[in-house]
Amino acid sequence: MRNIQHYFLNIRTFLTRLSGVPVMIFLPLMLLCFPLTAHAGEAAGAATFKAKCAMCHGADGAGKTPMGAKLNIPDLLSPEVQKKPDTTLVEIIAKGKNKMPEFASKLTPDQIAQLKDYIREIGKKH
Ligand code: HEC
Repeated sequence: MRNIQHYFLNIRTFLTRLSGVPVMIFLPLMLLCFPLTAHAGEAAGAATFKAKCAMCHGADGAGKTPMGAKLNIPDLLSPEVQKKPDTTLVEIIAKGKNKMPEFASKLTPDQIAQLKDYIREIGKKH
């Protein structure tokens, strides 16, 4: 009888220790993920920019690419671009402008808004 009690006690301490493990792992993980989800829109904008825009505008948006030189692409970080209102940037991305292709048929309005935010973000860091 004593042995059985002993056995259950051991299981209980084992289980309480075990249940502490996920808490110890998941809590820091959740805390780590929180800033990631808070910046999810920004990260999505960055990813779309890399996939759809960087070949012309450059990974950093400065337009220092062979395509940029050929098409005379403006530096997205420059004050000339940054001082344009949000609506203008969104409209240029959606409808295109001269050699700049339109993206309204390829991206959702949300993605275009994220790109506009991303351009603002890299403009600020510049
Ligand atoms: C085929 C090359 C090319 C691609 C791809 C491209 N652009 Fe452009 N972009 C241009 C060119 C060229 C201009 C300059 C248009 C003009 O003013 O004549 C431009 C202009 C712009 C402007 C306006 C700058 C200004 O002040 O007039 C923004 C904003 C912009 N692009 C954002 C983007 C975004 C965001 C993407 C990706 C979704 C993208 N571009 C993809 C070539 C490209």
